[in-house]
Amino acid sequence: MMIQAQGCPFHRKPAATAPKQGEQAPQQPVDSHDPAGLAEKLNNPKAAEIPCPWWRTVINKDLVKVDADGNVTMKDMRSALKYSGVRFALREGAVLGVKRVAAQLAGVATGGISGFINVLCMDKINVLDLPKSSLMHTGASGTLRGGFNQENLDQMLSFSSDGKRVTAADLADANKNQVKNDPGESGRKFGIAEYSILLNVFGKKDEDGQKYMTKEDVTQVFKKNDFPENWEKPKVGFISLGKSILGMFERQKETP
Ligand code: HEM
Repeated sequence: MMIQAQGCPFHRKPAATAPKQGEQAPQQPVDSHDPAGLAEKLNNPKAAEIPCPWWRTVINKDLVKVDADGNVTMKDMRSALKYSGVRFALREGAVLGVKRVAAQLAGVATGGISGFINVLCMDKINVLDLPKSSLMHTGASGTLRGGFNQENLDQMLSFSSDGKRVTAADLADANKNQVKNDPGESGRKFGIAEYSILLNVFGKKDEDGQKYMTKEDVTQVFKKNDFPENWEKPKVGFISLGKSILGMFERQKETP
C-alpha cells in the first residue's frame, strides 16, 4: 500500500503557500462584496447584505451570537449596545423600537393593546432580514446596500472638509447630497440619526470637543467591520445624541 506523503504526519511537506523567510505571504482572496467575510462566518450568503455597519461590527467581533436562522437575542443586542457605550435610557428606548421591527419581520401583529404586548414579548430579531425591514430608507450612503460598495464609501468620505477627518458637519453635507440623489424625508431623518449615532459611538473628540472619525476609522467600521484603532468606549445618551442630530439639521439649513 502506498502512503500518500500529504496524508502521513511523518512525511508531510510544508504547505505550498507558506512564505519563505523574507518573502511576502500570498494575498488571501477577499470578496469585495463582503470584505470582512460575514457570509462565511455565519455560513449564509445573506449575511453579506446586512445593511448596518454597527450590526456587522458586533457580529464580526463576536459581541452577539447569531443562530442558524439569523436571530440575535434582545439580551445579546442590549449587551452589545452597552459595550458600544449606549447608556441605559437610550439603550432601552432602542430595544423597544427594535422589538417592534422584530415583530413586523416575524409577521406578528403589532396593532392595539394585544399587538403592544406582542411587541414587548419579542425576545430576538432576525438580522438577516434587516434589508426587508421598515428601517430601510431613501438617501442612505449605499455603502452596505446589497453588500459592500467601495465607490459609495469613497463618495461619503469625499465630504471630509480637511481631507483627513469626517465631522458632524461633513456627514450632514454627505446626507444632504445622498437625499438629493435619492429624495424622501425619511432619508433625511433616519440618515442624520444614523450618522449621529455613528459619530457618537465610533468617534473621538478633538481638543475643541468636536466629534470626528478619521477616514480610516470610517473605513474600519464599514469595510472591515471592526472598531476603530484606539477606540475608547464612549458615553452615548439622549443628550449627546440629540445635540449632534440638531447640529446636523442646523448645518443642512445653513448650506445651500
Ligand atoms: C449603536 C448602534 C448603531 C449604530 C452606530 C448604527 C449605525 C448605522 C449607520 C451609520 C447606518 C447608515 C449606513 C449607510 O447609510 O450606509 C445604519 C444603517 C442601518 N441600521 Fe444601524 N446602527 C446602530 C444600531 C442599529 C440597530 C439596533 C438596528 C436595528 C435592529 C439598526 C438597523 C439599521 C438598518 C436596517 C440600516 C440600513 C438603513 C438603509 O440602508 O436604508 N441599526 N446604521
